[in-house]
Order: sequence, then C-alpha cells, then structure tokens
Amino acid sequence: MSGERDMTGSGSDSGATNAMWGGRFADGPSAIMREINASIPFDKALWREDIAASKAHVAMLAACGIVAAEDAGVIANGLEAVAAEYERDGVPENWDLEDIHMTTEARLAELIGPVAGRLHTARSRNDQVATDFRLWVRGRMEAMDQALADLQRALVTRAGEHKGSIMPGFTHLQTAQPVTLGHHLMAYYEMFRRDRSRLADARARMNECPLGSAALAGTGFAIDREMTAQALGFAAPTANSLDAVSDRDFAMDFLWCCSTTALHLSRLAEELILWASQPFGFIRLPDSLSTGSSIMPQKKNPDAAELVRGHAGRVIGALTSLMITMKGLPLAYSKDMQDDKPPVFEAASLMELSLAAMTGMIAGSSFDTARMRAAAELGYATATDLADWLVRVADIPFREAHHITGSAVKLAESRGTALDQLPLADLKAIDERIDERVYAALSVDASVAARRSYGGTAPTQVGLQVERARAALGMEE
Ligand code: ARG
Repeated sequence: MSGERDMTGSGSDSGATNAMWGGRFADGPSAIMREINASIPFDKALWREDIAASKAHVAMLAACGIVAAEDAGVIANGLEAVAAEYERDGVPENWDLEDIHMTTEARLAELIGPVAGRLHTARSRNDQVATDFRLWVRGRMEAMDQALADLQRALVTRAGEHKGSIMPGFTHLQTAQPVTLGHHLMAYYEMFRRDRSRLADARARMNECPLGSAALAGTGFAIDREMTAQALGFAAPTANSLDAVSDRDFAMDFLWCCSTTALHLSRLAEELILWASQPFGFIRLPDSLSTGSSIMPQKKNPDAAELVRGHAGRVIGALTSLMITMKGLPLAYSKDMQDDKPPVFEAASLMELSLAAMTGMIAGSSFDTARMRAAAELGYATATDLADWLVRVADIPFREAHHITGSAVKLAESRGTALDQLPLADLKAIDERIDERVYAALSVDASVAARRSYGGTAPTQVGLQVERARAALGMEE
C-alpha cells in the first residue's frame, strides 16, 4: 500500500484528493507528500488508546444529545469490530490514511457506513492524538514502575544475602574503605526508589484529559469533558484548549524519567562489567545473559550489561530529540509534533528490555565473596580506622592522627605488607601512643562493624535498610 516513491515530488499519483480532508483540493498529494505525512507506520502502536478514546467520546456525545443514542451504539459496536480486526490481523498501513486516527475511522465507515462520520463531531485529530498519546505514555509509566519494583526486589534479595559480605569500597575507583556488598546493592535500591517517585510525580502531573479541546479553541457543541476524562481514568479535563493540543510535557517528563533510570542502570551495568573482568573477578554473570566469542574460546562477554550501558545513550538521545522538536513551536498544533512518537516509543521499549536484563543479571549472578574480601584487605582500606582509633582511644586530633596513619601506610607499603601485619614496635616507633589494642580496629570486619551510623555499611545497618525496603516492597518474610 505504501506505493512507489515519485522522486519529482510533483503532482498527484492518483489524481484523487484525500477522502478525509480533500474537499478544497483540486489535486491529490504527491507520493513524497504522502510518505512524509504518514505516521501510520509508527502511530499504529496507539490503536488501543485510539479506540478507547473514541468509545468514550461517542458515549459522551450520546449522553449530551449530540449524536442519537442509536447511532452511538452502532459506532461503539463498529469500533469494537475494528479493534477485533486489529487484534487479529494487525493494523493496515495505508499512507493515504496518514495515521491511526484516520485509518480507524476509514475502516469504521467501511463496516457501518456513513453514520461513522458522526464520531468526529466536536473533536479534532489534535485533541485525539494528544489524548491517545497521554493514555499510552501513562500505561508505560505504570509498566516501568512495575519493572523497577521487580529490579528493586532482586536487589533487596541479594543485599539480604550479602549484608555481611565484605568488599572494597571505592572513591576515584581507588580502594577507600571496606563496605559490604549488601550496602553497595542497596545504594542502587535507593536510586530506583527515587526513579519510582519521579515516575509517580510525572504520572500525577500528566493525568489530565485533552479530549474536547478540539482543534485548538474548544468546540461549540455542548460536550461534557468531565465525562470523557472520567471514562478514560483521568483526574480532570485539561484547563486550556490551546495548551492541551500543543503540550508534550508529559512525554518529555516520561523521557526524563527514562533517562534518569537509564543512567542509573548504566552505572550499575558498568560496575557489573568491571566486576566480571578477570582482574576484579568479583562476579560471575549468568550464562543466560552473556555471550561467547567466535574466536577466543575462553571468553564470556557481559554483552547484556554493555547493551544496558549503551542503551542509556539512545534513551537520553530520545529526550534531547523531543525537546529540540518542541522548542521552537508556536501555539498550537504543528505537524512537527507528529515526530514526538518515535523517540518515546523507542525509549519505552529500550527501558523495558534494559530493566528486564538488569533484573536477570542481579538475580542470576554469583558473587565471589572470598575474592571481594581479599581485595578489601589490599589497598590499606582500614587506614581511616587507624586514624579514627588514634582519635578515639589516644585522644589525638584527627588531622594529626591522619598524618601518623600516613606514615604507617608508607612503612607498610615499603615492606609490601598490610597495616595489621606491622609489628607493634614499628607502630610505636611512629607514635608511642599506639598500643596493642589497635589491632582490633585494623581488620576489615572491625572496620565495617564500626560504621553503625544511620545508613552506614555495618551489617546491622544494612540489615535495617533491607528490612525497610522489604516492607516498602511488600515482600513477605
Ligand atoms: N498524525 C498526527 C500526529 O501524530 C495527528 C494530528 C494531525 N492533525 C492535523 N491537524 N494534521 O500528530
């Protein structure tokens, strides 16, 4: 149906004017016009929302006495029949019908005859597409929230298993202080908790119904916008018809939510990739989410994690794309706005895949806790504990304690040994106030156990974080 492209771009291929809007035209659109104009190849994804909005609209038209109840019934049944065809055979792509709205209306007319023409009373494709797209985005916000909750459950489960598993904590990717793996995983739980709250805000803000704004100015028919808003699950009708048909903030809010989540997923993916590399060796990713190399038989590549990291670029690109599409548009609708959908559709499906892949990797990975612990014991991760001990037990000001500890690290480094392997005599030579009790503070276990401040890495604190999260997620005991 898409037809041959007429490279001259001039004149009509068929000579026929458009059946929906061609009344004032002598000649039909060129092949290029038909192709550039057609959004059906992508906006057919809105068919369910389009049918739902049309059913709500026609029911309202009947309730307000604008369309006879009998006609409205025929139209509603016809819409059901069209929906059943779409469900069974997919949505046909005919560029002449431009978009999902005209495709559905044209099929409705084929099925029920001229009465189909009454459906488009008191509305325009401008409020129609704004309504359909909001419904679609709202559905994806809900789905994304659920996918985030699944990922949080996986994180909390693994964190609960590893409340006490010690690993190096990093700053600048240099060993800083020992932390627990549970603590590290719960950090991502918090990021995804904020992501869900951002989605909830965006959903609440966007839940207003544009239907009835018509082309831009509202309508002279005595419609009931509360009724359609309610039927479609919106909290209220939009307040200004010009804004309603030209607003795509809801889509940009969604893409912002997607971008932030994608960014968080990308950071986690990056850590999994590092941890899975041989020099780290902290983690074995599930075979089911890894690939092999066609040339190096020993390889197991973290492709799913790499693609999650890569997808973040495309998702952030989608946000940028829509913002740039919108930035110069005068009120109200301009056809540029038809380009709002591909980036949103793409971002939504990338997010669905990325979230599912990440949930699988978190749930299915095995952690080499012995190796993590050994890494934590390297790199003088407990140097801060020595300094803290000097402050606490020997009553030395922190700055001075920091300096003394630096000397101890330097000595240990020159001997190629760990801090707690330095003999007491050598420590005393650095500062005579050090005594044998210091050794109890220098183990990685003592270090993490000591960090009991609220939100800290001590297994008891991590346990509390896990408990609170399990309660928030409704995870049974
Ligand atoms: N396909 C169009 C879109 O996605 C629908 C609105 C068209 N409105 C118009 N006046 N041409 O934006």
